[in-house]
Amino acid sequence: MRTLRLLLLITVGLASAQQQALMDYLERRLLAIEDRISQWHEQTIRYASDLRELKQQMMSQLENLDKNKDGLRTDLDNIGTRVDRVEREMDYLETQNGAQPCVDVDDKLVEQQVTVIKEKNKAKYAKLTDCRDMISSIKAMKILKRLGGAKGMWTKDMGSGSGKIYIFNDVDGDTFFEFASVRDFSTSQGTERATATKLPSAWHGTGHAVYNGHVYYIKQGEEMRVMKYDLRNGSVVDSSVFPVKDQISVYGLSSDTYVDLAVDEEGLWAIFASRENERHISLAKMDTDTLAIEQIWDTPCQRENAEAAFVICGTVYVVYNTKLPSRSRVQCVFDVSDMVTSDDAPLVYFPKRYGSHSSLKYSPMEQLIYAWDDGYQILYKLLMKKKLEV
Ligand SMILES: *[C@@H]1O[C@H](CO)[C@@H](O)[C@H](O)[C@H]1NC(C)=O
Repeated sequence: MRTLRLLLLITVGLASAQQQALMDYLERRLLAIEDRISQWHEQTIRYASDLRELKQQMMSQLENLDKNKDGLRTDLDNIGTRVDRVEREMDYLETQNGAQPCVDVDDKLVEQQVTVIKEKNKAKYAKLTDCRDMISSIKAMKILKRLGGAKGMWTKDMGSGSGKIYIFNDVDGDTFFEFASVRDFSTSQGTERATATKLPSAWHGTGHAVYNGHVYYIKQGEEMRVMKYDLRNGSVVDSSVFPVKDQISVYGLSSDTYVDLAVDEEGLWAIFASRENERHISLAKMDTDTLAIEQIWDTPCQRENAEAAFVICGTVYVVYNTKLPSRSRVQCVFDVSDMVTSDDAPLVYFPKRYGSHSSLKYSPMEQLIYAWDDGYQILYKLLMKKKLEV
């Protein structure tokens, strides 16, 4: 019995020693785990603060970047203006270097401190008119639609307030489209809302005009013939041979147009060129009833690099570009009433565009230009000023 007790005691003793060892072991493990937990904790805190620091750094760098971006933008703007200025100065120098005709002073204008370049043979246009507007700048542009091919012409009736739109697609054709309004035109799928009209003969170039219910267009053959087509009853009511020999295309950058008809406040004009004066563009005033030419002027405006032209209040504005189309600009003006010269006229730049202008048609009633640029129909709103205003 005693032996048994002793045995039991030993067993219990052993068990408790084992238990103790186990407890010790567990405690060590726990300590180790606690240790690691506190290490993780520290690390987490460190990471968190590192992260915060990084975030702050990023923020300040972003701010700097923002500032740099603003700086860059201002720099770019500055460079842009400088390029524009250089462009203008170059253009100005170019116009200065062209052979100038003899400079003369018009007595009437001396009081107004304006020097006018007079050419021999340049008689003043006799017709009395109140029209004294000239371009100051292009105020706005609106792209209406893309209809048709790269070249063409679109216009309103520039003499009546009809509001109808006429589309002459391509440089060769005999069928034009008529839309009831600009709205119809801009909302129509292609020519779905248009009326197609076939002319009795084909046109060539983009020099046609619509004026007081008539289409004036050029029939090109052995000779140039100006056709007058009545839109109301659909017949050619008059035609006449354009009385200029050896004609050549009027704009250096386009070989299609020989006679460009233009409408302004005073009626119908023809812008053309001939072999006889092949470096420069000529201008003629036409009688809309008889199609007779009332007077012809040789302008100082070069054909080379000319893209298109239009007439406002008896002043022809020739628009120039480069073979690889860049920005079009009015770089030569000629006023039949002698009040404006290229020097007085502001150098007017057109906004950036798609290709090149195949036609520019001025609407005297709206002071808008209807432009055809690579199949896009564009309107330019003009800001005007009075001639002789400096
Ligand atoms: C068309 O109208 C014009 C005048 O409005 C007239 O001179 C001409 O003879 C008419 N033509 C036809 C075919 O009716």
